[in-house]
Amino acid sequence: MKSSFYITTAIDYTNGSPHVGHAYEKVLADVINRYRKLRGDESYFLTGVDQHGQKVQQTAEKEGIHPGTYVRKTTKRFTNAWEKLELQYDGWAETTDERHKKCVADILQKLYDEGQIYKKQYKGFYSIKQEQFLTDKERGEDGEFGSEWGQVEERDEENYYFKLSDHVAWLRDYVEKSDHFIIPAFRKTDVINAIERAEDSDLCISRPKERLRWGIEMPFDPDFVTFVWFDALINYISFAGYNAAPDAGFPEFEKLWPANIHIIGKDILVPSHSIYWPCMLHAIGFTDEQMPSLLVHGFWNLKNGKVSKSEMTPEQAAMLDPVNLVEKFGADCVRYYLVRDIHTGRDSDFDPERLVMLFNTELANNLGNLCNRGLSMTKRFLGGATGQSDYDDELSQELRAESATTIATYKDAMDRYCVSEALEAVIKYITLCNQYTDKQAPWSLAKDETKMAELTTVLGHLTEVVAIVSVLLKPIIPSACERIQAQLKANFLADVKIDDLKWGMIPVGQEVAKPKPVFPRISLEEEA
Ligand code: MSP
Repeated sequence: MKSSFYITTAIDYTNGSPHVGHAYEKVLADVINRYRKLRGDESYFLTGVDQHGQKVQQTAEKEGIHPGTYVRKTTKRFTNAWEKLELQYDGWAETTDERHKKCVADILQKLYDEGQIYKKQYKGFYSIKQEQFLTDKERGEDGEFGSEWGQVEERDEENYYFKLSDHVAWLRDYVEKSDHFIIPAFRKTDVINAIERAEDSDLCISRPKERLRWGIEMPFDPDFVTFVWFDALINYISFAGYNAAPDAGFPEFEKLWPANIHIIGKDILVPSHSIYWPCMLHAIGFTDEQMPSLLVHGFWNLKNGKVSKSEMTPEQAAMLDPVNLVEKFGADCVRYYLVRDIHTGRDSDFDPERLVMLFNTELANNLGNLCNRGLSMTKRFLGGATGQSDYDDELSQELRAESATTIATYKDAMDRYCVSEALEAVIKYITLCNQYTDKQAPWSLAKDETKMAELTTVLGHLTEVVAIVSVLLKPIIPSACERIQAQLKANFLADVKIDDLKWGMIPVGQEVAKPKPVFPRISLEEEA
């Protein structure tokens, strides 16, 4: 049965340009979205940009331009990178969108009317770097605020607060009993610990306009704007059509929600996504059954440092620019590396040498070789079309049996969002098929007229494996797989769903095209 599936990513801050960390998250979401479509689901992928806030306001001021002009410019860098990476998102979230602003304002007004938002005077220590008030819990053992908070100053101001504390007992209970709120499960401990810390504090959700103008105005007080989370987190529902007018151009909310996952990095799990967001949803009236799942991925790091704009050299920043990477290596290669060399949930070191090595060994040599051999020998020895033969042997039986195992392993891993594990199974299968080719040696069979039946079976098996892996790999390397399917002249493969994928996709007499290399080898050198 068709089910619906709603995938979101964190919306990226627009006070800069995207790097491989942002790109990884978006590629992972795109792979999952394409995979859900391959499963036959009605899948919807939303991504976008977080355009408000102090940093945007400050940078725009420095450049002497309006923040709106500044974010339009920086937003283009994201859409351009995502286009280069061949992302196919179904919805695009920009927090300056009037429809989003209305949704946020309506929610704030409702919570204010219900007494869940109140105003209070607060005197305390404020971290300029992290843009938040600090409490004694943030002090280190020496009683001081650590360097992670940057410059800390004492402030005394009035602000609006959301009664987070009213929802914490519910949240603790919910997190403890839910087996799908946090994926992978090992991250649950971080959340439970953070709930302990959140217990008796409410959430400051506003900034006075004299300090921050670039935000969504509080509907009940024009002297304030709402700050970060009530703006950014609500994108997940506003752009899914929550409370929207029927002609607003959004999907049907009830259809998307709650069959969904929010894909986020480990840095924004606590407190924002696992504490503020479920409490906000609970306050608005969402039930336990309506809570989303959080798929928490790890970080791409540099071997000796962080992938972070402020901590990289210009050379590192250029190397980690997804647009540069795609221009140098191609979208398929970058997409492949970003989901291949990391286990979902864990960290990995970004290493261009491994990117080149993995592409050359697993795609250029292994898969490229299989496609090339399968198709060119079908052209040379069988006149360009697959044939029919009754010949069978143990090796062929093993290859056929392994196709079912590979599809099942791939599906199981993809259902758990473990893309690298799924790829490992496919690569293993391609290796097996290359070994099969070496053992069967069709080039020798072709020299002996009495071996025509063997030759026909062996080459038919190669074509079949190429077809199957082109379907399995398409969510990850879509363009390359389209080219493979075009060379097989089997465009019908584009519509095959995973549950219909089995041995026997290619009919007898299938004509194939002359193979062209789909994965030319790459190198780190410029001239390559
Ligand atoms: N704007 C907020 C999120 C609001 S969601 C309602 C934000 N933006 S961000 O630009 O800093 O990060 C966007 C996403 O990129 C986050 O999920 C973050 O974890 C992810 N990554 C940022 N750097 C990363 C790596 N080096 N590696 C992997 N992902 C990383 O947070």
